[in-house]
Amino acid sequence: MAKYDLTSTIAEYLDRHMVFPLLKFLVLKELYPAEEILTVKLDLLEKTCMVDYAADIYKGLHGLNEGDAAPESFSERREQVLTKLAELQQSTAPLTQALEQDWVLQELRQDKRFNQEYLTNTVKVDMACLDKLYEFAKFQFDIGNYSVTAEYLTNFRVLSLDADKCHGALWGKFASEILMHNWDTAMEDLNRLKESLDENKSGSALEQLQQRTWLLHWSLFVFFNHEKGRDGIIEMFFQPQYINTIQTTCPHILRYLTAAVICNTRRNYVVKELVKAIQRGSNQYRDPITEFLECLYVNFDFEGAQQKLRECEAVLENDFFLLACRDEFIENARMFIFETYCRIHQVISINSLGEKLNMTTDEAEVWIVNLIRNARLDAKIDSKMGTVIMGSQVPSVYHQVIEATKGLSFRSSAMIETIEKKANSSKSSSMGADF
Ligand SMILES: *[C@@H]1O[C@H](CO)[C@@H](O)[C@H](O)[C@H]1NC(C)=O
Ligand SMILES: *[C@@H]1O[C@H](CO)[C@@H](O)[C@H](O)[C@H]1NC(C)=O
Ligand SMILES: *[C@@H]1O[C@H](CO)[C@@H](O)[C@H](O)[C@H]1NC(C)=O
Ligand SMILES: *[C@@H]1O[C@H](CO)[C@@H](O)[C@H](O)[C@H]1NC(C)=O
Repeated sequence: MAKYDLTSTIAEYLDRHMVFPLLKFLVLKELYPAEEILTVKLDLLEKTCMVDYAADIYKGLHGLNEGDAAPESFSERREQVLTKLAELQQSTAPLTQALEQDWVLQELRQDKRFNQEYLTNTVKVDMACLDKLYEFAKFQFDIGNYSVTAEYLTNFRVLSLDADKCHGALWGKFASEILMHNWDTAMEDLNRLKESLDENKSGSALEQLQQRTWLLHWSLFVFFNHEKGRDGIIEMFFQPQYINTIQTTCPHILRYLTAAVICNTRRNYVVKELVKAIQRGSNQYRDPITEFLECLYVNFDFEGAQQKLRECEAVLENDFFLLACRDEFIENARMFIFETYCRIHQVISINSLGEKLNMTTDEAEVWIVNLIRNARLDAKIDSKMGTVIMGSQVPSVYHQVIEATKGLSFRSSAMIETIEKKANSSKSSSMGADF
């Protein structure tokens, strides 16, 4: 199953702190030798300031007991971290203390210049330490205190006039909210970042591409945990600037988009668009989940789709983001097979349908009865003949309108994007978000 594991691919586009939950999941799944994962973990930790955590992993890796001393280098590093912590604490104290006072917070407004003047003149805080606050927030992130990071970065964004740093602070805040599993706030930050990327006029096309690639990966945490995530991922990833990014830099994201579409039965109108994207990306990326849709919608190969569906089950079982929606996926995937089958046939024998769906005839009948009862299927059962007779297949006017307008907004924003890209293609670039 390691063949379909995307952890190392995805990790390239995540902050290293976000990789730890993925590694923890891999340990549970036993896809790799435990030692190998610990080594990767230690390697990541050594680039952070989480020294105690690193020392624990080191001990585990070298068969030491909890009470045993870790090498000297760890305690030296620990001293350095503590010194730095104290230093940053001291240099930012006037500002952080002022921002804990309710009477100060009440005075702050949208107007950052006003806030700075208020703090300088009335509260008598030297605003020269604002950049230190940013540094301190980053340091708190590095030692793994995400709640303090989020708080400091929020304060920083209320005060700083430096647009680039505020943008960086937003990335840091987003990461912190993800790591604390604050999905509502993380969703808000995600939307803000999306806006900020769309409005940013200073970045080159390449920088925009890199930042969008990161956002696509970071957003997976939110979309597969937030209750509105299944709608959100479809809305965002199908926007032309994002579907283009997926195609250009990270076609493996198609796995998540496909899974989301299959799990979200109200979004059937995006299937056509998705199949096109899968076909365009199929040279660079394919897995059982994308192949399932291809079997069904390109080749009308029902046996093949059945086969792929069984493979999908194993892929979902071992995917950090998708495990939670496995059952729903399987149920809906069967529905997709069934619907496609129905589109080509008017009368279907329940017996042969059962075979297609790997169910007994009785199971298949119960399943279809439930679909009809829940208004997910327009059909009648003829029990005497053992057949299902399809109702009218004409899509409702409502759906036709939705589909038509959807295409329209896709096209017009795609056009604007293309024109802008042409106009800006001469600019050059450097590396993305600085958090
Ligand atoms: C984070 O820092 C704050 C303030 O220094 C402290 O009260 C809190 O316990 C820390 N939290 C963690 C998880 O270390
Ligand atoms: C704009 O994008 C550039 C490059 O990606 C980035 O360095 C900068 O911080 C962004 N600025 C704002 C205000 O979003
Ligand atoms: C049918 O499903 C059962 C589990 O319900 C599974 O064990 C079996 O392998 C499947 N057979 C086929 C041909 O898919
Ligand atoms: C291109 O640059 C113009 C102005 O320089 C800006 O308005 C536009 O948003 C930019 N578009 C892209 C896609 O970079």
